[in-house]
Amino acid sequence: MVFDLFKSSLPDGFLAGACDMHSHLLPGVDDGFKSFEDSMEGLAKLKAKGFVKAKMTPHFMKDYPENIRETIEHKYQDFLQKAGNDLPMELTLGGEYMLDSHFLNRFEEGFLTLDKMQSLVLCETSYMMMDPMAKDMLYQVMLKGYQPVIAHPERYMYASKPMYKRWKDREYLFQLNLFSLSGVYGKPAEEKARMMLKEGLYDYVGTDLHRVANLESKISSIKLSKKELDRLSVLLENNKKL
Ligand SMILES: [Fe+2]
Repeated sequence: MVFDLFKSSLPDGFLAGACDMHSHLLPGVDDGFKSFEDSMEGLAKLKAKGFVKAKMTPHFMKDYPENIRETIEHKYQDFLQKAGNDLPMELTLGGEYMLDSHFLNRFEEGFLTLDKMQSLVLCETSYMMMDPMAKDMLYQVMLKGYQPVIAHPERYMYASKPMYKRWKDREYLFQLNLFSLSGVYGKPAEEKARMMLKEGLYDYVGTDLHRVANLESKISSIKLSKKELDRLSVLLENNKKL
């Protein structure tokens, strides 16, 4: 369709009322925000773009062995206390869990989930390859009554359309990284994000924000067709139910 070839920026107010369900805004715990001040600036900028809620989802992976549930919960409480009434939006705490050799240990402490029902677990793999045990890990997640949400599937270099469809057949949910659509992760990730959006494979969308720099330009460089905008709106609505 010729109409689908015309792409434009996100309309003003498109993100009004949005909930960011994936961010590294909790400072000093992973490769995301480094200081309290940076995080507050990040939250203020998200607010200026229309976001009214954010989930802090720090990395739980073998590279950050000190990130266990108890430690992260304490740091989150410290952050809330320090921010006090200056907090520009509603916050909740989740986690982003790498499917690596430490993953199965997480069952003991329980997962920091994305939703009120405490069911949705945000999971990621490395960009280059999937751990050979990842499928079993995800099976265990489901056996325990959790629902895996795969973070930014478009960014996995090893993954392609047939694999995404197999994952959907196993009932994993998918979270789009908003900025994949602006090409910041490269052309292949952008093309896969557009394909997956078109195929209706995504369930949620998040910023996966790691730092405050270039937030505005990353958002303004997203160019979408009318159909893509409509599909993205559906994901934003799904986020609001979390
Ligand atoms: Fe992330």
